[in-house]
Amino acid sequence: ESESTVSITVVGASGDLAKKKIFPALFALFYEDFLPKHFTIYGYARSKMTDAELRDMVSKTLTCRIDKRENCGEKMDQFLQRCFYHSGQYDSQDHFAELDKKLKEHEVGRVPNRLFYLSIPPNIFIDAVRCASSSASSGNGWTRVIVEKPFGRDSESSAALTKALKQYLEEDQIFRIDHYLGKELVENLSVLRFSNLIFEPLWSRQYIRNVQLIFSEDFGTEGRGGYFDNYGIIRDIMQNHLLQILALFAMETPVSLDAEDIRNEKVKVLRSMRPLQLENVVTGQYKSHVRGGITYPAYTDDKTVPKDSLTPTFAAAALFIDNARWDGVPFLMKAGKALHNKRAEIRVQFRHVPGNLYRDIGTELDHATNELVIRVQPDEAIVLRINNKVPGLGMRLDRSNLNLHYAARYSKEIPDAYERLLLDAIEGERRLFIRSDELDAAWALFTPLLKEIEEKKVIPEYYPYGSRGPVGAHYLAARYKVRWGDVGLEP
Ligand code: BG6
Repeated sequence: ESESTVSITVVGASGDLAKKKIFPALFALFYEDFLPKHFTIYGYARSKMTDAELRDMVSKTLTCRIDKRENCGEKMDQFLQRCFYHSGQYDSQDHFAELDKKLKEHEVGRVPNRLFYLSIPPNIFIDAVRCASSSASSGNGWTRVIVEKPFGRDSESSAALTKALKQYLEEDQIFRIDHYLGKELVENLSVLRFSNLIFEPLWSRQYIRNVQLIFSEDFGTEGRGGYFDNYGIIRDIMQNHLLQILALFAMETPVSLDAEDIRNEKVKVLRSMRPLQLENVVTGQYKSHVRGGITYPAYTDDKTVPKDSLTPTFAAAALFIDNARWDGVPFLMKAGKALHNKRAEIRVQFRHVPGNLYRDIGTELDHATNELVIRVQPDEAIVLRINNKVPGLGMRLDRSNLNLHYAARYSKEIPDAYERLLLDAIEGERRLFIRSDELDAAWALFTPLLKEIEEKKVIPEYYPYGSRGPVGAHYLAARYKVRWGDVGLEP
């Protein structure tokens, strides 16, 4: 049996994503010996560059894990020797045919597998897919294509994109990335739930009062305004990252851990969701703010953003899953840029203990239900907030945390999401990629709302850069008798 080799072509090699995430992730995989024995990496972009120049560019993006410094330089050199560059237009079959020729030289004698990573703007997606598939597909190995969002900006444009992709590729060749699915704690969500008796039976309306999915960044759209203004935070974060987490969180037990079984369950959740009402949504946009003598810009100060833009940089929403398990349980989402901190969290607030014996002890207990917090980033942690007796002769209760801080528990550095996802794509594991019916269901949920916001020109609530965001988010939560979890997780 002849050996195989994989050629990884990063289309859009000089772009931001390639430099920040893709090359470093490939190197990390190489370093940890996760890449196949035989592989070649090609950067593909329009500008003229030599292999040496590409290597130089890539080398600047590579870092070594803190615990792996010794032979790092040597490993980098070995890695860079396997990186090459091909300059071409994204819509030129000839240029992809030239790439094909070069790839073949490296593949000779082995089963050639090819992975294309399309790290390019959506308006040239289809051209690149067409050219790559017609002129640079593998003959007798597999050919896979990784694509990144935006997958359109509503149901229609997304369906058009899918249709166009499927002219050239089979569904099982398309790997749609939602990089949040590659995050360690998002992957752990199912482990936590399905392999712990103390959680699995609680995972329903019977015990869970509400679920919160929170994303915040402490910086604005700096430099990305051109992209962002056409999408807004709902498309940028909610419709994909937060909704994916919600689907994983709320799905029924899949038949197995197979990709299709898991994705079947996720689609079912998405299709069970109640249409989003505008009244269950709050939008915001950050405005300029002066603090400590420093002026922080407004969203519309970005040169690439129209002065009168109404694009939300913040949104909060209450969503509902109309099925037996989750009937009536609010799933609250909140996502924003230019807020006071950077975090991504899942918070599960449990119901009151019926007939709680201790209900009259201590004012702290007024709303002291249990809470499970899964902090996806930074400082990954799982924390269970419980009611506890304060040590001493009296009887006073407080709320304390049962903590699992990853940094304290595991000495290993956590791999970047892109490492996991690239590895899975190479191995043909589809569990963490978005299937087209999932994508359709996600758009079906958000498209009417997005249209309404745009048609009615809903004015976002302005919030100062670096603040906690619009107060409207609190009123929205209060309507469902919920308080946004905001307490620190330290011991
Ligand atoms: C991207 C969004 O998908 O995710 C960005 O387009 C956002 O706006 C980013 O900053 C956040 O990813 P992470 O992994 O840094 O939390």
